Amino acid sequence: MEAGSALDRTPLRGFKDFYQYAGTTRVIAGRDLLSSTGFEFQKEGARRVFVVTDEVIRGTGLVEKVEAGVADGGLEVVGVYDKVPQDSSTHVCDDCAAAAKEAGADSFLAVGGGSVMDTAKVADAVFTHGGGAREQEGFFLMPREDDGMGRPLDTAPLACIPTTAGTGSEVSMAAVIKDPDEKIKIEIADFPLFPRLAILDPETTRTLPPKIAAATGMDAMTHAIEGYVSVDWSAHQDARSLHALRIIRDNLERAVQRGEKDEEARGNMLIAANLAITIALGSVHAMSHPAGAQFGVPHGVANAINLPHVIRHNAAGSDDIADRYRDIGEIFDIAEPDIGEALASHITGLVDRLGLPTRLSQAGVPEDGIPALVEGAMGDGTTLLNPREMDEEDYAELYRAAL
Ligand SMILES: [Fe+2]
Repeated sequence: MEAGSALDRTPLRGFKDFYQYAGTTRVIAGRDLLSSTGFEFQKEGARRVFVVTDEVIRGTGLVEKVEAGVADGGLEVVGVYDKVPQDSSTHVCDDCAAAAKEAGADSFLAVGGGSVMDTAKVADAVFTHGGGAREQEGFFLMPREDDGMGRPLDTAPLACIPTTAGTGSEVSMAAVIKDPDEKIKIEIADFPLFPRLAILDPETTRTLPPKIAAATGMDAMTHAIEGYVSVDWSAHQDARSLHALRIIRDNLERAVQRGEKDEEARGNMLIAANLAITIALGSVHAMSHPAGAQFGVPHGVANAINLPHVIRHNAAGSDDIADRYRDIGEIFDIAEPDIGEALASHITGLVDRLGLPTRLSQAGVPEDGIPALVEGAMGDGTTLLNPREMDEEDYAELYRAAL
């Protein structure tokens, strides 16, 4: 990599040659907010709302509460699409966009976890600009004024009500979806994909099963840690990452263990997930994306398993990288000289206490799957953002260690 490029692997401190930071989603957080969904979404230009969700969420009665909140503000729900699977795909996004067109919608409202919100984002792009979901792939490639040089064209207003505290997709400009034909996850990111509105209300995670609260919480923790050590770090994101980690330290186990009884911990985890999200990630995500695409390992579970191994590997790469992990260690009261090992074993302990698997083999990954996983990780965009340069042998070793 060329010295001085935006992705220069060093330094991880000082004044950078370049970074950009944006966060254009209006966030409202607090109690009893679902009833004002319509009142708030109207301010973002929505009138004829198309709700995107999944069958599980719909079964909890949450969608009816949100629909009532939309109607309360004088807006109309013109359709509800509840066919988003746990791991959404390009086909689902195309189907969802077509259903919204058919319903005469002018806006999207996602009620669900990462898969639902990412589906709504990509469906919105297809709905607004045409083409198929597969063609949306890429970073900063959405249509712009002035032959592609000007301001990006708006998409239909999108509001998100997350029902897990983890992905942070509700305040991010990125979406990750599966291309089932090629068995890969494709990434789409551009400014118009920032939702216009995110509503954080702990009511939405009240009945979340502990295993999902744990896995999605570990996804948030992974965003905070990877974001902080990424070569694409920034002072803006550093502040968010470190504070997200403090909130996660104080609330994740509470939220998982006490669940319904601990509204405060659930609300705080929704906020932590918001703060932690970034598109500047690294090799944990590079390893977890193919594990999801090829073996169906849930995203948060894969991250929880891979995170300690990547920390050990990265921290051994240079003092500069180890120092960044030392900052993170401070938050968890970890100050051992071998910070990589100490932080990694702290995280493995946490993952175990949360009741999640700590090995990929426990999550359905066979040993002979490793070569294809390595290929997937090498091809994943986040590999370029890892603080330590990675090659096939590094990934093969890390997958074997995680197996
Ligand atoms: Fe993630």
